Amino acid sequence: MIELSLIGIGSGAADHPTLQALTALRSAQLILLPRKGAEKAELAELRRALCARYVEDATRVVEFDMPARDAEAPDYLGAVTSWHAQIADIWKHMILRHLPAGGRMALMVWGDPALYDSSLRIAERLRSSGMDLRMQMIPGLSSLQLLTAAHLVPLNTLGGEVLITTGRRLRARGWPRDVDTVVVMLDGSCAFRELEPSGLWIYWGAYLGMPQQMLLSGALAQSAEPIVQQREQARAEHGWILDIYLLRRLNGQDEN
Ligand SMILES: C[S@@+](CC[C@H](N)C(=O)[O-])C[C@H]1O[C@@H](n2cnc3c(N)ncnc32)[C@H](O)[C@@H]1O
Repeated sequence: MIELSLIGIGSGAADHPTLQALTALRSAQLILLPRKGAEKAELAELRRALCARYVEDATRVVEFDMPARDAEAPDYLGAVTSWHAQIADIWKHMILRHLPAGGRMALMVWGDPALYDSSLRIAERLRSSGMDLRMQMIPGLSSLQLLTAAHLVPLNTLGGEVLITTGRRLRARGWPRDVDTVVVMLDGSCAFRELEPSGLWIYWGAYLGMPQQMLLSGALAQSAEPIVQQREQARAEHGWILDIYLLRRLNGQDEN
């Protein structure tokens, strides 16, 4: 049997993993560590540093190249599904090679494994293909928590609802009815520019929890362009960017 731990590691900062996460990391016999191309080499380096700091010699850390998703495919969900199948095949191959008699394996997941992360779905594929797999998921600090903490802002207004979505979905649907807080992740093209800005406030954060962390907040009408510019500059400088934002409709009662 394979005992798989999906371990949330926050932003990769040394003090983000919980004690529960460190215990699971240390007890793993095999840790699979994905490499995502030269652009995101810094991210792989953060995971390596966590292993070097917290993991004992007895644990085998094995790196693999993540296949790239076809970003141009017109069928987004179809492309994601076949990408997951490719990743599941790689995991299976690694497990058969490095834990042929079964054992404890761990995957380090950015932020929290339950939030816009497909590790659990990919692992389910292994189980449904017949692998004897038992899973545990260890929560981590999500980018959403890092964002609200960095801006000192509550996630919700008093008794209000929150929508968490992607740039793609926000662009397609516009501002949702009856919601005064929208959190947007996975937005490579600043979907906030397409909203009618009056009455909206934005809290934006990039590289949260990392040394190069950037924050900006203000009325959307005035802040949209500065965010677009800072984002472009930072992306050019580092070769990659991770950013997230919270949009709030101000109603005069509870501006935070
Ligand atoms: C595939 S999702 C993973 C989310 C992750 N599981 C979490 O709990 O934050 C990637 C998206 O999360 C956000 N993100 C992840 N890490 C971030 C960071 N350190 N700073 C800002 N945004 C981040 C970005 O919106 C990015 O496009």
